[in-house]
Parts: sequence; C-alpha cells; structure tokens
Amino acid sequence: MCGIVGVVSGSNVNEKLFNGLSNLEYRGYDSVGMCFINGSNLNIKKGVGKLEEVHKKVDFSKLKGNIGIGHCRWSTHGRVTEKNAHPHVDCKNKVSVVHNGIIENYSELKDELIKKGHKFCSQTDTEVIAHLIEDNLKNSRIEEAVRLALSRIEGSYALGILFADEPGKLIAARNESPLIIGIGKNENFIASDVPSILSHTNKIIYLDDREIAVLTRNSHKIFDISGKQKPKKIHTIKWSAEAAKKEGYKHFMLKEIHEQPRAIADTLNERIQNSHVVFEKEFGLSDDYLKKINRIVIVACGTSWHAALTGEFMLEELAKIPTEVEYASEFRYRHPLMGKNTLVIAISQSGETADTIAALKEAKKYGVKTLSICNVMGSSITRISDGVIYTRAGPEIGVASTKAFTTQLAVLYLFTILLSKLKKTLNQEQIKGMIDGIRKIPLQLQTVLDEDDEILECAELYYNKLNSIYLGRGINFPIALEGALKLKEVSYIHAEGYPAAEMKHGPIALIDKNMPVVVIAPHDVYTYKKVLGNIEEVKARGGIIIAIASEDDKLIPKKAKHTIFIPKTLYTLSSILAAVPLQLLAYHIADKLGRDIDKPRNLAKSVVVE
Ligand code: AGP
Repeated sequence: MCGIVGVVSGSNVNEKLFNGLSNLEYRGYDSVGMCFINGSNLNIKKGVGKLEEVHKKVDFSKLKGNIGIGHCRWSTHGRVTEKNAHPHVDCKNKVSVVHNGIIENYSELKDELIKKGHKFCSQTDTEVIAHLIEDNLKNSRIEEAVRLALSRIEGSYALGILFADEPGKLIAARNESPLIIGIGKNENFIASDVPSILSHTNKIIYLDDREIAVLTRNSHKIFDISGKQKPKKIHTIKWSAEAAKKEGYKHFMLKEIHEQPRAIADTLNERIQNSHVVFEKEFGLSDDYLKKINRIVIVACGTSWHAALTGEFMLEELAKIPTEVEYASEFRYRHPLMGKNTLVIAISQSGETADTIAALKEAKKYGVKTLSICNVMGSSITRISDGVIYTRAGPEIGVASTKAFTTQLAVLYLFTILLSKLKKTLNQEQIKGMIDGIRKIPLQLQTVLDEDDEILECAELYYNKLNSIYLGRGINFPIALEGALKLKEVSYIHAEGYPAAEMKHGPIALIDKNMPVVVIAPHDVYTYKKVLGNIEEVKARGGIIIAIASEDDKLIPKKAKHTIFIPKTLYTLSSILAAVPLQLLAYHIADKLGRDIDKPRNLAKSVVVE
C-alpha cells in the first residue's frame, strides 16, 4: 500500500528518485522519505505529508549520491508521524530500509531484538527488518544477513535496502507485494510499478515471491531465499512513458475517462476475427475445457467486483453458465464448494490486490482452473492463474478506476461471446449482432464524452449535497453501485447504489427534495417500463432525478429534472456507455469541491495488504 523506488547509478540519482516517487505517490501519500549514500554515510530526509509538501519543508534536492531509495507511505502500523515515515535504520545508522507490506510477526521479533539491546525509534513493523539485518551482520556478509533476516519474517514485503558500508549495492526483495527491477544503461532500478521508471528503461524483471535481488550499477543477480542464484527473463515493456503523463488534463482521472474510446478499441483489437472471438496464447484455456465448464465463480474487489457483477449477468443471460460473484476478501475465509468443471475468474486492474491474490490461491487449492482478467502485464495475479486475458487500458494512475473498469466489461463481453459460441447458446447471427454492437462502442463513447454539458450543470447544481442515491436494474444495477463508489471515492459525498425496485423496501424513506437520485434507465425490453415506475416513486417524494437515458427517449426527459443521453446499443453494452457519465459526474463534483482527485484521502491505488 506504499510506493518504493530505488536507483543505483554512475551519477547523482536525486532527480530520478524524486520523479520516481512522484509517479508512485498514488500508492500512498501520508508521508514520504528518501535515503542516499554519500561517501559511506546514510543521508535521510523524511516528513509527514505529500511529496511536494515535505519537499518544501526538508528540500530533498540537498540529498546527493549515486545510490538512493525512496518511499511514499500509506500507513498500516504506527500513526502518521515523521518517526514512522520510511526509510528506517538500524541502531548504528548503517542499514536503511524502505518497505511495502505487513510483517505479521513483527511484535515477537521486536521483543526478541529489544532483549538483545536494539533500540527502536518508530512504531512500525518495518524497523524490525533493519535491526534484524543488523543483528545478522555480526556474523555474515550483507547478502547473507538479508537472507537470514527474511527467513525469519512472516508476512508481505517489497523491500529496498541500502548499506552505508557498501555504497554501490542496492538490495531488493519481495514476498506478496509488488516489486520490479528495471535494467538501465549503467544504472539499475527497483520500483513498485513499471510506469514510475519507464522514462529510464523499459527492460523489466518481475521479482517472484521470496526472491532477493542484488543490484550494482552494471550488474543484477537474483537469488531465492535459500541463496541459490536464479535465471530471470528480462521483459520489454510496450507502454510508453508518455502514456503515464497527464497530457494537459487537469487530473489523471479526467485523462483516463477520456481515454476510454482508445482503451476499448485496443482491448478489442485483433480479438475479433471474421466474427469470431480469438484470444492470445496466454489465454491458455482450450475449447475442449471451455465446453465442459458448468459453473463460474468470479472473485474481485471494489470496482473490479462491480465489473464481475456485470459479467455474471452476461454469462448467465447469454452463455447460460451459472455464475457467482464473490468478494475476494470473503471467498478466502470460507470453504467454497468447487466442482471439477468450475472455472474461477479473478478480475483486477493492478493484479496486485492482496485479497484477490489470496482468493485465487485459495481456488487453486481445489484443483480448479483459474483465469485472470488484468491490466498489468506480469503482475502477481497473471502469474498464478492458468490463463490471462489482458485489458489494454494502459497505465491507470488515478486512484479511482475508470478505463480499467470499462475495458474489464469489454473483456467479459468478448469472453461471453466465446463461451456462447462453444456452448451453442447463441447462433452465428446473434453472435454477429453482438460483435457489431461492441465494434461501435469506441465511437459511441466518444459522443458521450463530447456531450459533457448536462453533466457539468448537474455537478454545479448539486456538488454541495450531502447524500445521493444511484438506481439501476439488471445489468445496470452494478453500474449504479459503481457510480456511487466513484462519487464516494473522489468527492467524499455519501452515495448509495441500489437496485431500483428494491428501494421501496426501505431506502425510499431517505428521499426528499434534497436528495439527488441518479437513475440508469436505457431503453430495453427487460426493465425499462419498471424503471419508469421507480422514477415516478422518487418524483412523488420530491427527489431530484438525474436520468441516464437512450438518445431517442421521449418519456424520461418529461419525468426527470436532468437527462443525460447515451447512444442506442444492445442491452448488455448499455452498461459500458452508462458508466461514463457517472464517472464524469463524480469527477466534476469532486473538482467543484476542490478535492485531491487523483489521490483521495485514505485511499491507495493498489490495496496490497489484507
Ligand atoms: C476503484 O476506483 C477503487 N480504487 C478500488 O475499489 C479498486 O477497484 C479495488 O481496490 C480493486 O483493485 P484492483 O482492480 O487493482 O484489484
């Protein structure tokens, strides 16, 4: 839940480290710190607040050296104080550690080390690592001291470690927290994600769990926890460094909302061939296996969980496969029933969400096949599942997920087409209709984005409301949940997503003239007329109705206070089009309120702790 970055080079790394941290700030921003080695001294500056705020106080540019590590924190153990900010050091100020993750047995280790005379300065679990290494340094060289320390640690970690006495060596290690190695020219990097170092190198090694990397400026060696050296593949990343910049948009969230036509087009690209859906070889599941699937369980968290609910609707409605959606965090702690032909799908933008990884591992214990739908190449989830379908949203930096969500829906739609064909639940003509429908989506999304005026007006009128309700039915019920989540995340306004017809069983009591009610009501043969009835129910109680309706709808504008139109499409695809105005509404409201949209309070992009 924190960001870490490190560089070892032939020249001063101050700027690279500062920029790397700035790119990683979306992962945690309650405190920040850096450590450099100059001569054989550790020089550390750290403080509470965001990078720029702390920079103003401590002036990071004064730190100089050819090797350094940096950290931006999202606190787990220990309050947000300067003492608890990373890096942490040992008693002699010789070992400096930055850490992302949670050391579960830190309290036992801390007691043991205190008995041995170690002095602790912080309340963090991380400081234990620095002292454990120090303890092992009495009898071992640094690589061995790190290895021995890690073999005592239970929990998750991504670590960057510097040693004052070895000023040319950067050590990194990972277990259940993301960490990559960047191979540069005459310099090497460690980082929590690829985009943070992409302007320096696109040659990446993905560390696996319980691996330790020893980097100098012109060498890299990777070892397992037993000390055995391991050969590792160097991947070339295709994302450009520019893709991870704001490009003139006020916030990443807005840029990423506007990227959705491109993101969906890329996600479809080459996957539709002569009216057939074809996935790349990493999909890894054979037609024979897919024909046998008789149940699907989808695990995910947050926005990805909302995508999963939409997928459930598609898979049951069209491919006729019983599908259940589970919160990953709940799935892992019960004893799910798995048949041998159950497929478990994990959906995750980052591929590093701790609960989703754990749920996938739990599923694998039952011997069932697993598939991941993920946006980040080489991330943990993709490496532990049997097959992967990548969303091709490109790097998503804004903490509130937008383009990852709609590309997840596009992938679920393609997967449903493939299964419907194999299961013969749809004929070729119906499949062709579905394919024609999704091919139009990128252009249709562009028209939604181009007509932002009504949404802006709603934001201006209602940004000071304290509550709001989002209603939808069928495939658009998860979109109501997602719209409410977006508003909560970036504006801090309380919002509830509800199935439109369920409202009369309780929440209708909340409706009065101060309550904005966003109703997703595209024209369809299933629930449209019922939703009209639900709109009447809200109207009768004075609620302010903001409706999302199909472009030719004549009835809804007569009933709603505001109508935002989306182009006509297939019912299953209306969810993609309806999601976008809700993202924009949340964005504009948060912008009017002056919120820190890309880094909302208390949140971090990837939740890599349980
Ligand atoms: C989305 O806006 C949220 N920030 C959050 O709910 C997120 O979707 C969730 O943490 C899951 O992340 P993942 O898709 O990377 O697994």
